[in-house]
Amino acid sequence: MKSTTEKGFYMDPFFLCCTAIILLLVHGTIAASSTTTQLSNGFTATPSKNDAEFEPHLTDPSGVFAFGFMQVGMTKLDLAVIHLPSSQPVWRAMPFNPVNWAATTTLSFDGNLVLTDSAIQKDPIWSTNASPIGDFVVLRNTSNLEINRFGNENAKSVWQSFDHPFDTLVQGQNFTALTPLFTADKRYTFRIGMGYIALYMMFGGRQEINYWKHTALESEGQIYGVVDPQGFLYLHNPGGSKAEQLPFTSYNRSVGFHRMTLQSDGNLYAYYWDGKQWVLDYTAVQEQCGLPGTCGSYGLCYPGQHTCSCLINGTDGCLQTDSGDFCGKGNSDYSFVRRAGVTVEYTDLMLSITVESLDDCEKTCDTNCSCWGTLFANTSKNCYLMDSPIQTVVVSGNAYQGYFKVRNGKGGNGDDSSGGGKKGHGMTIGLVVAFTLIFVALAGYGVYFFWDRKRNQLPRVQLGGPTQEMAQGSYKDLHSMSNT
Ligand SMILES: *[C@@H]1O[C@H](CO)[C@@H](O)[C@H](O)[C@H]1NC(C)=O
Ligand SMILES: *[C@@H]1O[C@H](CO)[C@@H](O)[C@H](O)[C@H]1NC(C)=O
Ligand SMILES: *[C@@H]1O[C@H](CO)[C@@H](O)[C@H](O)[C@H]1NC(C)=O
Ligand SMILES: *[C@@H]1O[C@H](CO)[C@@H](O)[C@H](O)[C@H]1NC(C)=O
Ligand SMILES: *[C@@H]1O[C@H](CO)[C@@H](O)[C@H](O)[C@H]1NC(C)=O
Ligand SMILES: *[C@@H]1O[C@H](CO)[C@@H](O)[C@H](O)[C@H]1NC(C)=O
Repeated sequence: MKSTTEKGFYMDPFFLCCTAIILLLVHGTIAASSTTTQLSNGFTATPSKNDAEFEPHLTDPSGVFAFGFMQVGMTKLDLAVIHLPSSQPVWRAMPFNPVNWAATTTLSFDGNLVLTDSAIQKDPIWSTNASPIGDFVVLRNTSNLEINRFGNENAKSVWQSFDHPFDTLVQGQNFTALTPLFTADKRYTFRIGMGYIALYMMFGGRQEINYWKHTALESEGQIYGVVDPQGFLYLHNPGGSKAEQLPFTSYNRSVGFHRMTLQSDGNLYAYYWDGKQWVLDYTAVQEQCGLPGTCGSYGLCYPGQHTCSCLINGTDGCLQTDSGDFCGKGNSDYSFVRRAGVTVEYTDLMLSITVESLDDCEKTCDTNCSCWGTLFANTSKNCYLMDSPIQTVVVSGNAYQGYFKVRNGKGGNGDDSSGGGKKGHGMTIGLVVAFTLIFVALAGYGVYFFWDRKRNQLPRVQLGGPTQEMAQGSYKDLHSMSNT
């Protein structure tokens, strides 16, 4: 998976595929093991030898959620809270080091939940690290995993999974500046700030692209959010008053259980459970080309045509970038590529300066080693600065002129596409399989990612000329483009 990720032209669909397969398998095989509704001091568990994809050890009183071992990949596991009717994980521990599905792994409760794998290290791989420690563990019918103390039934739990989210917020869960959501690959994050919520793509922790931002209408500082069962994200001011209600499609219809999930494509979705399936209820970034990872680094996205190609060809798909900048010795060697008629959908979130000419815009970037590229708008004479590695840009009219730096002596450059075509072929076959599986998996779960726009009542970001809904076959189309 790792090498695929590094080279992958369409990393996110691959990841999505794996996740979907895991979900399907989980659905098929939930181990029948004795589960309780409370774990006491002294509890220990080791993953069983059978082929279960999820092994529950604790359920909530309503039997809708369970906490236990979830298989990850072929041989690893993670601790997860799963929505049993759908097998959808709503929480994962996400230890830094994934532990083995093997007898060497132990989950125990000694006042804290502790996960160890003696095959990896003696010290715990993950722990709840609560202080003071608790007496017992329960799973609430909200899906919150809590460590509580005896005789303190009304007091706040000493630890709760709601304070340590992974990629999902469920209804009633507090979303604060301290509890951002992440994708499993740590590529994307969803954060709440001073009066806004926003999506970011991250590069090694130092650089990031902010590609979506929603500012609360009546914010008074550091807001926090809660997904409301009535079908909206309630944004609270520090004092508790309303900063905004961000409505979902199910607004004010008392339908099922809601969740918001930051998915591996970097988009934020809300769903509700209608008793049979998760119904898509909200999509943050409406235009697929507006996601910086859609066509990968130095990728080119065609909004009307649902296809990807390359701004700059690499050896496997488009040229891959690393993180970092062009500052300092050994880093300053670059060439550049000019391309008219490209932009990104989030120019309004980018740093921009007003310049006299295209030449001035490019010079600004040339003399600044942390600049990766610019977009020059010749009507407004705005020069937009890209301060992190170049990701997907969007083909659009001719209002913008792009200038992009390319690191020399790393990987391929724009000219070596000849060898790349063949190497890309094996990858391509993999993609066909992957995309097919994605569709089977997604169809099975009734999840509509791109073509359900009509249900969404929020205005679209529309910067890049005429856009169109992604058709159901969009992944296939994306793929067939890379094949040519
Ligand atoms: C969840 O539990 C609370 C009490 O903790 C109860 O009031 C509520 O009705 C339960 N909800 C469901 C859906 O079981
Ligand atoms: C949610 O977070 C806010 C801000 O940290 C806090 O004021 C509020 O009490 C929290 N609410 C719950 C139910 O934990
Ligand atoms: C939504 O429901 C709340 C009460 O649950 C009500 O105050 C509000 O007016 C409703 N909004 C709409 C748009 O129906
Ligand atoms: C990239 O490769 C594709 C297919 O191999 C080719 O059609 C295209 O012209 C190349 N683009 C550049 C900028 O070299
Ligand atoms: C901007 O530049 C492009 C490319 O040179 C040109 O086609 C377009 O007409 C220009 N737009 C304006 C408003 O000058
Ligand atoms: C260099 O560019 C970065 C963003 O690309 C910007 O934050 C910084 O202020 C610029 N530095 C100078 C000296 O212009």
